[in-house]
Amino acid sequence: MTLIGCTTPKSINQSKLLGNLSEISTCDGSFSLYSSFFKEPFHSLSGALTEARVKFLDPSEINRFKNKDNLRVLDVCVGLGYNSALLIETIQNTSINLEWRGLEIDQRPLIMALKNNSFQKNWTQPVLNILQSLLKKSSWVDKNSKGEILWGDARRKLKLLPETFKNDLILLDAFSPGKCPQLWTEEFIKSLSQRLSPGGRIVTYCRAAAVRGSLRRAGLDLYSLKEPLGMNQDWSIGTMAILPETNKASYFDNSSPWQSLSQMEEEHLLTRAAIPYRDPNGIESSAKIIQRRKKEQINCSLESTSSWQKRWKLGKKS
Ligand SMILES: C[S@@+](CC[C@H](N)C(=O)[O-])C[C@H]1O[C@@H](n2cnc3c(N)ncnc32)[C@H](O)[C@@H]1O
Repeated sequence: MTLIGCTTPKSINQSKLLGNLSEISTCDGSFSLYSSFFKEPFHSLSGALTEARVKFLDPSEINRFKNKDNLRVLDVCVGLGYNSALLIETIQNTSINLEWRGLEIDQRPLIMALKNNSFQKNWTQPVLNILQSLLKKSSWVDKNSKGEILWGDARRKLKLLPETFKNDLILLDAFSPGKCPQLWTEEFIKSLSQRLSPGGRIVTYCRAAAVRGSLRRAGLDLYSLKEPLGMNQDWSIGTMAILPETNKASYFDNSSPWQSLSQMEEEHLLTRAAIPYRDPNGIESSAKIIQRRKKEQINCSLESTSSWQKRWKLGKKS
């Protein structure tokens, strides 16, 4: 993601964690932030709200849960709360009971979002109350939903969630792997996958080969998120990974917002880009994780990613 246009200069200064946070307005008019530490916006500049809908809510296919007692969701990197707010908004007035957990290292994104008028206007009062309650009490309990946020490094906090607590849905929305590799490692992804129920999904905007490889090695079936009609045609807008259920052959039809990986995407997983990020003890710095991966890439005999890009006539950013 690169920072272009649509920005406003207001910022909150804090040297640690995310560095300075600058308020930005994305191109669908929705509010977002830019982190000076990660040098990345929190959302695609084409639209924070649009991104939450097309990359997280639509592939989650919440309708599937209307006959199920409980929907268990884990939101990894809650940030301003768009992904979960949209999900909670969607299940209001349904019979679905939501059991929610969130992981997030910094309270400022949610504080800044809740002070912003345009952010507030996206949500009904019950959803705003839930977000407020997460800030004040780190939890909420409502008539058909309850949730709890664990503040801190997601690697450490995930370990506090028992593997017996299985999620139907995990929303994985960390900064990009090149900037925040610690939340895209082989080990972190394996740990997430161990907290999925059969048929449960990990949904993410990320289509990186390294991440897809780790998801597949964790035993999940991989699918590519399709760009909705009318948007710039791109080869994928993200990934969905499903823990297979016994006796269930297929999960999708032509109307699904996701599809099997194309030949091109499968070949991506055979290039150097597919060398995973590794963090065996869950405590390493991003610099160390990136350095270890570079070394492994240099020493491997896999096809270079640039030769794959040339073969498929793709731009360098693939
Ligand atoms: C791309 S933003 C998430 C946007 C968010 N999902 C939303 O809907 O607004 C990434 C988030 O990851 C959080 N983060 C960064 N490193 C983290 C870590 N080690 N553990 C937990 N959260 C982290 C940042 O504070 C930031 O809020």
